[in-house]
Amino acid sequence: MEGKRTIFSGIQPSGELTLGSYLGAIKNWVELSEEYNCYYCIVDMHAITVRQNPAELRKRTLEQLAQYIACGLDPKKNTIFIQSHVSAHAELAWILNCYTMYGELSRMTQFKDKSSRNAENINAGLFTYPALMAADILLYQSDLVPVGDDQKQHVELTRDIAQRFNSVYGEVFKMPEPFIPKVGARIMSLTSPENKMSKSDKDPGGCIYLMQKPEDIMRSFKRAVTDSDRKVKYDPVSKPGVSNLMTIYSVAANKSYDEIEAEFEGKGYGDFKPAVGEAVVELLRPIREEAERLLKDKNYLVSVYKEGAERASRAATRTLRKVCKKVGFVDR
Ligand code: TYM
Repeated sequence: MEGKRTIFSGIQPSGELTLGSYLGAIKNWVELSEEYNCYYCIVDMHAITVRQNPAELRKRTLEQLAQYIACGLDPKKNTIFIQSHVSAHAELAWILNCYTMYGELSRMTQFKDKSSRNAENINAGLFTYPALMAADILLYQSDLVPVGDDQKQHVELTRDIAQRFNSVYGEVFKMPEPFIPKVGARIMSLTSPENKMSKSDKDPGGCIYLMQKPEDIMRSFKRAVTDSDRKVKYDPVSKPGVSNLMTIYSVAANKSYDEIEAEFEGKGYGDFKPAVGEAVVELLRPIREEAERLLKDKNYLVSVYKEGAERASRAATRTLRKVCKKVGFVDR
């Protein structure tokens, strides 16, 4: 791993992994994993900014670990771990909170969205969430952060925080760059294509889940919202539903928009929608089967997350020690 550049990314176990998280993030994690020294985290501390059922959170965390591996992340080559197992995240998050401005946090789109959806629980954690995310990234001196479009603002704030800290104390943190895929950075809901496909979506028909059965995936695609124009053409402004399906098909079947338009020339949505469904079923089938197999081997999953936490801790502690020294804490 010496000499390789570093990647950090994470997903909250706040719901079942969706096709959006796969295409926007995990698929790129896998593609980048050979070239980089990678830390892939299950960010359970972020998840509790919204109330979780404890038993379900525990279950989903393990399922998410199995799904990371099933998507092709080899735990021998990548450090895969659970955020709450590495206490440096919480420690650095506190310190960075003191270098993050109220005004910056108030401008975060995800905070505005989530606080309007959870008006009864606008807690301080939800507000300061980006400082924890900055800690995640900066602890590992990450070069690259592969995320979907919606996380770009948080990575930019991470850079601002790092810059502010470095300008006071010298070059403590490496400046990370977001890595956003060209196609698939923003997968929309199948039933309301003006909204992002999201694991916390209340409308299950709008979402495709990695563990979903083929017949359910097919049903959701057949019911996907399109338009009355009957033309398979990429135009996200006037044809958001069809364009979203084209994006999904493009990544799942590895075809360009031009190729897709040509393939469905003169054909209607009755041919197009099931074709997208089939491509997604085939994309997800091996992932689901492998995740189901791994979930039967609890001991293996435990060994993966324990080893991951040990490796992550070693790297994270190096940065944390440096930071503690810089701000004036007495050596332990
Ligand atoms: P989260 O858990 O909401 O989403 C995980 C990743 O999936 C991407 N994503 C999508 N991409 C395309 N289309 C969609 N519909 C879609 N839905 C989700 C997200 O952009 C993200 O990359 N704050 C982060 C988790 C996090 C993190 C980090 C990420 C915590 N610490 C450090 C990177 C680095 C979040 O809520 O992602």
